[in-house]
Amino acid sequence: MTDEDDTMLNDPDRQRLLDAARAAQARAYAPYSHFAVGAAVLDDQGRVHAGCNVENAAYPQGVCAEAGALSAMVLAGSTRVRALAVVGDGAGLVTPCGGCRQKLREFAAPDTPVLVGDRHALRAQFTLAQLLPDSFGPENLSS
Ligand code: THU
Repeated sequence: MTDEDDTMLNDPDRQRLLDAARAAQARAYAPYSHFAVGAAVLDDQGRVHAGCNVENAAYPQGVCAEAGALSAMVLAGSTRVRALAVVGDGAGLVTPCGGCRQKLREFAAPDTPVLVGDRHALRAQFTLAQLLPDSFGPENLSS
């Protein structure tokens, strides 16, 4: 991780996000994959909104943790994401899936930090543009 990655997010906010994502992970409903994920977003008012994955017997109907966190943010009255954290277990990094990268793009700038961690540590930090380069967003529809 470079200093540059840290410029948009201070330590207390980073910790709040990871804590909220971990608490959400503990609430995941994942009886099919047994892969619990938690996510949290920091909005433009400094509030944190969390979500967990919620699976379904009709497998494709499951909802990712990031989608839940974004829904909670919109319900609370914000449509701007300052940072997102996602946490999950396992050897590999739990980076947001492709669909969730696009869902985040709706509410976040390209330089928005995306933190990826697990129960114990922050493991990596990206910008949204690194995860979703040359993306299509709301600006493409307004001209
Ligand atoms: N999952 C998330 O909630 N977020 C991610 O970033 C990756 C995957 C969920 C979807 C499914 O419930 C389970 O993890 C296994 O794919």
